[in-house]
Amino acid sequence: FKETPRVYADVIVIGVGIAGLFTAIRAAETKKVLMITKKSLLESNTRYAQGGIAAVISDEDSFAYHRQDTLIAGAGLCSHDAVEILVHEGPECVRELIRMGTQFDFENGELALTKEGAHSQRRILHAHGDATGFEIVRALSEKAMLHPNIEVWDDHFVIDLITQDNDCYGALVQKPDGTKVLALGDATILCSGGAGQLYRYTTNPEIATADGISIAYRAGAEIRDVEFIQFHPTVLCYPGAPRFLISEAVRGEGAVLRNIKGERFMDRYHPQLELAPRDVVALAIVSEMELTKSTFIYIDITHESAEKIKHRFPTIYEQCLKYGLDLTTDWVPVAPAAHYMMGGVKTGLHGETSVNRLYACGEVSSTGVHGANRLASNSLSEAIVFGRRIIDEIAKLDPVGQTPEFSSTTHRLEQLKQPIVEKRLKLQKIMLRYAGLVRTAKGLEKGHEELCRQLQIFESILTKREEYEFANLLTCAMLTMQAALRREESRGGHFRIDFPERDDLVWRKHIVFNREHGVI
Ligand code: SIN
Repeated sequence: FKETPRVYADVIVIGVGIAGLFTAIRAAETKKVLMITKKSLLESNTRYAQGGIAAVISDEDSFAYHRQDTLIAGAGLCSHDAVEILVHEGPECVRELIRMGTQFDFENGELALTKEGAHSQRRILHAHGDATGFEIVRALSEKAMLHPNIEVWDDHFVIDLITQDNDCYGALVQKPDGTKVLALGDATILCSGGAGQLYRYTTNPEIATADGISIAYRAGAEIRDVEFIQFHPTVLCYPGAPRFLISEAVRGEGAVLRNIKGERFMDRYHPQLELAPRDVVALAIVSEMELTKSTFIYIDITHESAEKIKHRFPTIYEQCLKYGLDLTTDWVPVAPAAHYMMGGVKTGLHGETSVNRLYACGEVSSTGVHGANRLASNSLSEAIVFGRRIIDEIAKLDPVGQTPEFSSTTHRLEQLKQPIVEKRLKLQKIMLRYAGLVRTAKGLEKGHEELCRQLQIFESILTKREEYEFANLLTCAMLTMQAALRREESRGGHFRIDFPERDDLVWRKHIVFNREHGVI
């Protein structure tokens, strides 16, 4: 990288969802921050979050309830310490979000709270009814844009992290004109979101291409729990319409699920009915779809008043109406779609990864909060709670001083020689077919084999962003497939027909990958 220009900041933040914005604003109190996004400040998974953000706010709620709900949903794989931190620090971090300008909905003079699957209490704050993520991004991005200590690079793509001797110095970045630059800092925080684009059907935007997990993996960071993929149970499934999320809050406010015969069915699957944990509801829907030979089921909230539905879910109402579906009078066809990756870059309780000076926050991270199945609306809370901890930790770091030449760390991605972008759709189909909601050893082996074939199709040096993204998807897909094959049990967001039971004796443990050492 001798010839590559260098830019220095104290803190490099990669990604601009809630994790990136919150940590950047926090860090900027004392440090110069460079935020890098491959699109713009207004595009991230956070922006599409509907339901809300979970925190113990109500007098009827308690830390113990929130802890218990999170642990039960997590199906035995949560880190108790991480969950403890989430529930105790969540309310204060939410207040900080409000101080940063986020306007949540109020009801009778108090913060309005809703319920979602597997929550025993009303503890989910929301904004504009069902546009919570949009409001958070609006408030935080306004603040970030105006902050004198924050510089934002829009439309810049992070190709790889720059590491030497297990220290991270920043990132190799492709500028919009295709040239490269090294963005260097004392600390690098990965806030690059998830991997929904691994699958043919997803609630995630086009940009969710597993970039963070893959660049961290290539840089030597430990990657954990990537077999656990959360499929959101109720995603619009209608010819010509996008896979638009029908928030779990709709069920929280009383919607029921019906198969195509019009029968309510959740009583055959779980005592919490439509508000059972998400993995349970998604699998129940798949089972009903199979029994009735259908590709969808219905969500029905028509018993509620039209006024309430329009007020509470304006975005969902409008979106459905575009396709001739009236939420106030029609049952809306839905099916599960990939929504959230529980695993990611393994961190400690301060967001620190196994690479020095590299931190991970938000969906890209695996803090241990979510276990095998995330409790609805815990992700936004996790991002701000652990984001705050990361900034406190970074404050203790000594400056890097003179940066090395990085002579031994050449551009790892180019060395991988991955195939081209037209293969993305193929990859998404392979993942859906073999590593989707329902998995078998035979299918996973076949899927893995097909992914390997993709890898070997031909060799070329990568230059275009779409090629880098595809390479990242492929890296993550391989890890997910391998972990899913290895875990011979069913738990949370990982269901194996050939091992349908949860096996706490053998499998109450994590699968962790490290590029150099394999599975550790
Ligand atoms: C939803 O609104 O159903 C999504 C909430 C979440 O994924 O946490």
